[in-house]
Amino acid sequence: MNILVVGGGGREHAIIKALKKNPNITKIYAAPGNGGIAADAICLPVSATDIDGIVGLARQYAIDYAVVAPDDPLVLGCVDALEEAGIACFGPRANAAIIEGSKAFSKNLMKKYGIPTAKYEIFTDMEEALRYLDTAPIPTVVKADGLALGKGVIIAQTRQEAKDAVTDMMANAKFGKSGSTVVIEEFLTGPEVSVLAFTDGKTVKPMISSMDHKRAGDHDTGLNTGGMGTIAPNPYYTDAVAAQCMEKIFLPTVAAMNAEGRTFKGCLYFGLMITADGPKVIEYNCRFGDPETQVVLPLLESDLLTVMRACTDGTLAETEVKFSPKAACCVITASKGYPESYQKGFEIVMTEEAESCTYVAGAKLENGKLVTSGGRVTGTTAVADSLEAAIGEAYRLSDGVSFQNAYRRTDIGQRALQALR
Ligand code: AMP
Ligand code: GLY
Repeated sequence: MNILVVGGGGREHAIIKALKKNPNITKIYAAPGNGGIAADAICLPVSATDIDGIVGLARQYAIDYAVVAPDDPLVLGCVDALEEAGIACFGPRANAAIIEGSKAFSKNLMKKYGIPTAKYEIFTDMEEALRYLDTAPIPTVVKADGLALGKGVIIAQTRQEAKDAVTDMMANAKFGKSGSTVVIEEFLTGPEVSVLAFTDGKTVKPMISSMDHKRAGDHDTGLNTGGMGTIAPNPYYTDAVAAQCMEKIFLPTVAAMNAEGRTFKGCLYFGLMITADGPKVIEYNCRFGDPETQVVLPLLESDLLTVMRACTDGTLAETEVKFSPKAACCVITASKGYPESYQKGFEIVMTEEAESCTYVAGAKLENGKLVTSGGRVTGTTAVADSLEAAIGEAYRLSDGVSFQNAYRRTDIGQRALQALR
């Protein structure tokens, strides 16, 4: 069997390493992949958003099954195009990927179907948005409607900050077209939990819960990033919270998408906040999270390809999705200066031990050497019997990943450990 994975980051590397455990897979291709993924898959130089190019590759390499991992090709209709070409895929069609592609869509969906989320208003007119902010409760949260690489969310502590954010998005097009519509919402507080769930549009099977660390600096200081590390399971996601989420959020979301004629199949990501009023949805993603995937998939005991195909075929109810009772921690090694400006092109050296549990994100091969090419460079994951042991081991192994200007947070998992005490 030939598999194509669309995308080229740490998440895709984790998906490929998990798929490789299936003995029926002959070849795994990645488009575009990256210099580190090249150790585990055949990388083809086609961009994930070049939909015609991806369909062409799938035909050329006789692909039996494709996994479309990133948000932008999903929103652009990569799954629709592959299916039209007769290639079975993991991932939602464009009409369902809109759950991440438009925050206005997802907020309206939650309101219509009574799914708990922050109160909000949607604006397409800047003057109206600015007037609303004269009386809105502060702090408030301003979000660009469309995809903005996780950077289109501003938590404003003052009215002026909120107004500046609206002006940046709507008049100065800081996030391009993504910001021509903005959502202004209530500021919620509470611990955050990420839950990735497999769904075939009927059944929902949540994966093990996880916790991302989005800020660049220790103790959650500094700018928002794509994620500096993750742990799983998340101690705030108790059995009671999980039951509430299933009843009030997961099943109602899948039913709502069906009722809208937008059946969602694939991995639905619930970004949750456990507030004093119960769990609420902060955001939906139409895909595996990054770097959540790098702790969740190493704990998956069932065969990933079998589960993915069950999502495509509508047989998830009969398919076992089993996770290990252990814990995992992933520590990201980034380029110093990320998420702002940073230098690239430094050689990456890894010990054999570190390499075996490291997922490569921002790196390319140059004259046979692996060199840095992005902000988040690698993610090193350890699995252990306890969270504390997984954290210690992930840091020990990360020390085996070195390049000039390497930067890591030193406190990944500490908040979770405190919650367990
Ligand atoms: P997002 O890119 O939508 O994941 O948002 C980035 C981060 O902003 C989230 O992980 C939260 O920490 C924070 N955030 C988003 N919406 C809210 C909200 N309504 N209240 C408080 N924090 C929020
Ligand atoms: N880690 C958050 C995301 O993938 O959007």
